[in-house]
Amino acid sequence: MSFHSEKMQKIKPSGIRELFAKAQGIPDTISLGIGAPDIHTPDGLKKAISDAVNFNFNNYDQSPGNPKLRKMITRKYKEEYGVDYNSEEGTIVTCGGVQLVYIALQTYIQNGDEVLIQDPSFLTYPHQVQLAGGKTVWMPSTNDFKIDIEKTKDLVNEKTKMMILNFPSNPTGAIMKKKELKALVDIAVDHNLMIISDEVYEYYTFNDKKHVHIGAIDGAYERTLTANSFSKTFAIPGWRIGFGVSTAEIMKPMLGYHAYVIANATTPAQVALANFMDTEEAGEFQTFIKNEFQQRRDAIVKGFNSIEGIKCHNSSGSFYCYPDISETKYSTGEEFSNKSFEEARVVLVPGTEFGPSQTNYIRASFGSVNMAKIEDVIHRLTRMLEHSKGK
Ligand SMILES: Cc1ncc(COP(=O)(O)O)c(C=O)c1O
Repeated sequence: MSFHSEKMQKIKPSGIRELFAKAQGIPDTISLGIGAPDIHTPDGLKKAISDAVNFNFNNYDQSPGNPKLRKMITRKYKEEYGVDYNSEEGTIVTCGGVQLVYIALQTYIQNGDEVLIQDPSFLTYPHQVQLAGGKTVWMPSTNDFKIDIEKTKDLVNEKTKMMILNFPSNPTGAIMKKKELKALVDIAVDHNLMIISDEVYEYYTFNDKKHVHIGAIDGAYERTLTANSFSKTFAIPGWRIGFGVSTAEIMKPMLGYHAYVIANATTPAQVALANFMDTEEAGEFQTFIKNEFQQRRDAIVKGFNSIEGIKCHNSSGSFYCYPDISETKYSTGEEFSNKSFEEARVVLVPGTEFGPSQTNYIRASFGSVNMAKIEDVIHRLTRMLEHSKGK
């Protein structure tokens, strides 16, 4: 007897979660698989959550989010990008950025609507589009992993409803310049599309590159929902606290959906974040983690490029790099990832997890490995490929 619904039969399990499970408990494995910082949560934030529990902030909170935290979030956007959001009607706190994108798609996508997503992208998007009854239309990338603007123009038709943007990008680390993003916003304006801009890696930009908040671009504000999260910013992915900002009009139906499925994101975590967000320690932590990732990025990109047959772009942000392995003996990302796990005990994610044309690539998360491990990974992969040549 099967109780499976038709919609779930089309959803395949997350390849990254499977890889993660496969690597668990296997000794001497180094995982560059999961997108989570290996850095510990700042002590002040740990104390803030235990204080919140001890001071009895354990009840339900307001469904759109703890009021003080929502005020802090809108203050952040004003101070950092000069953009005003309404803390009561235009701000929501969710169970991670993932839940925010989910409720947005459930709210705004109907059967047959088309959603433009970059090939490659964070693997959750197309599955969430499918769960909402929509269809993913892949926006091709340029050689440096920006969205190909001209080709994107040709993809828009009367069914196109939305475009999802994510810069700095998971999985490539690419960043688009303001004027390039403006060209995408113009497409959205010309065809009346909504934009979800997933900016969870906003603080991880390298070599003094500045993050561009899409809501600040001319024409974007009234059609954009910005998705964000504390998971990466304060190294608390397990707390599951994300947030979103937009206009009151876009936010209103989403608040209704959120109230029915979640009620509210975890109360003590929200209280702790509200008390921690603008402390000196929070600022120092952000500087520390950004510098650490920059150092790791430099080492891992250089390391990959030193291996014969591998070419790796210099990732400009996030904590991923995305090497092309097509000139090695293992010419698809899937084969490379299987071999690197079996023979070198290194977990890497095949590019095909992120988009249909990504057969040549693997994604490596340097958020989860320190400098010593990066050196070890490069050494293991070099050895694996030298050994494979002799076969
Ligand atoms: C681009 C992007 N958006 C959103 C998320 C979700 O983060 P969370 O749900 O932990 O806030 C991730 C996590 O890897 C991500 O890479």
